[in-house]
Amino acid sequence: SPQPIDAGAVLAWYDRHARDLPWRISPAARSAGVMPDPYRVWLSEVMLQQTTVAAVKTYFIRFTTLWPSVFDLATAPLDAVLREWAGLGYYARARNLHACARAVVEQHGGVFPQSAAALASLPGIGAYTSAAIAAICFDERVAVLDGNLDRVLARYFALSVPVREAKDGLRAALQVNVPNRSGDFAQAMMDLGATICAPRVASCLICPLHSGCRASQQGEPLAYPIKPVK
Ligand code: ADE
Repeated sequence: SPQPIDAGAVLAWYDRHARDLPWRISPAARSAGVMPDPYRVWLSEVMLQQTTVAAVKTYFIRFTTLWPSVFDLATAPLDAVLREWAGLGYYARARNLHACARAVVEQHGGVFPQSAAALASLPGIGAYTSAAIAAICFDERVAVLDGNLDRVLARYFALSVPVREAKDGLRAALQVNVPNRSGDFAQAMMDLGATICAPRVASCLICPLHSGCRASQQGEPLAYPIKPVK
């Protein structure tokens, strides 16, 4: 690509600064080759749609304590799941969650499919969630593009149009830069967006992508992403 992303620098940063979140596994386990449990990753990614990391943590711990596996969730009464979901909002997500658990058990023997394409055919699993699970659990080299990544990449490329007009281009530019350890890379980019390249604060001096970032070079990191004219 014309402006490469230094994925190695991003991964080295993640090895030092990854957030300790309940759906992640320890760096020691990761180094030993252990991969995250797709059930836990799926549950966290569904909860994180439209809800902050801070709010999701306690819900995630409660759900996985009550229902440690996809079999437990699939056999739980829907009304119990909806009750535990209270406060997270968007109840269709909880209904889809339960339907998806049942589909994984009934159609896949309780084993999550291992590719983004196959995951995307499950209830409530769209392009983002399927890519996230495939990368994080199976190291599929797929671009995982969420709202944080939109902002990080809009700044990195000094994208001259609103993100919604350039989604396909951003995805393609990210895709060619996805390294091995694609799941760590995806989560590193999310953590960068949450902690260093935040909506109203960009801490460029400590950013592993600083040297290649066009917005930072222009001295205007917060000028991107360009806001759409309503
Ligand atoms: N937001 C959505 N998915 C996430 C993840 N896996 N880690 C951190 N933030 C996220």
